[in-house]
Amino acid sequence: MDQYAVFGSPIKHSKSPRIHSLFAQETQQNLAYKAQLVPAEKFETAVKDFFTAGGKGLNCTVPLKELAWQYADTLTERATLSKAVNTLVRQKDGSILGDNTDGIGLVSDLMINNNVLIKQKRILILGAGGASRGIILPLQNESPREIVIANRTVSKAETLAQEFSHKGKITASSYQDLAGQSFDLILNATSASLSGDLPPLAEGLLAEKGSCYDLAYANEPTAFVNWAEKQGAIKNLDGLGMLVEQAAEAFYLWRQVRPDTQPIIALLESERA
Ligand code: ATR
Repeated sequence: MDQYAVFGSPIKHSKSPRIHSLFAQETQQNLAYKAQLVPAEKFETAVKDFFTAGGKGLNCTVPLKELAWQYADTLTERATLSKAVNTLVRQKDGSILGDNTDGIGLVSDLMINNNVLIKQKRILILGAGGASRGIILPLQNESPREIVIANRTVSKAETLAQEFSHKGKITASSYQDLAGQSFDLILNATSASLSGDLPPLAEGLLAEKGSCYDLAYANEPTAFVNWAEKQGAIKNLDGLGMLVEQAAEAFYLWRQVRPDTQPIIALLESERA
């Protein structure tokens, strides 16, 4: 049976084994997918062992995405720019391809699952860490009017904006300087949500009929989801759909078969309700 796995630390609560086994059932693919606790210092040995034993593909999560980026023999363009890899694919010649399916997972969840438009829209990304870096190019590929990256440490947002400026209009801002502007779509890519925190966001940032998306997800609404509710977001989403969609894209890279994601998102939604 073809072997797949997700490596990370911590890994116990990963939903990936569940999602991939649902995909495998649905598409009648014969494969095994397990979660393995791999701390950063063990990454290289663990990946080598996995592929030497015949493993076909890996997902890498916190804190391994940058290491996976370094490890891959070749990278897709979106992985190159994101400087992070969440999917490793063993190719026919034995070499390892690195991709990052997080951004396309977000875009699919927005556009296909939730009818949120990106083309010609003004988009605000909160945060300038790895999560932001992973979503910028796939968003730019959908031709937004403009992307603004806001971050507590503005210099990090500036660096990021510069790196992606050849792909579309993108600028950096502090949170304070956002006051008076409005955005059609606000994406929270900070790690603040996880500790129940919020960046300092002015009132009025969300345009009428605007939508919000928290890349993080939890069983309870995150601080950002609660904020978005108060702002009257027409679509107020968290990262569960993105999680399933990034997995579907990895599954497609490995198996060349595209699972139907919507029933699986609905199932996971019903379980957390
Ligand atoms: P990740 O890989 O999840 O993006 P990261 O690279 O550590 O993690 O980046 C975390 C992001 O969340 C950063 O943009 C960070 O802002 P700074 O660069 O200014 O540190 C942001 N962040 C974390 N906690 C925050 C908080 N309480 N308020 C605002 N931004 C926060």
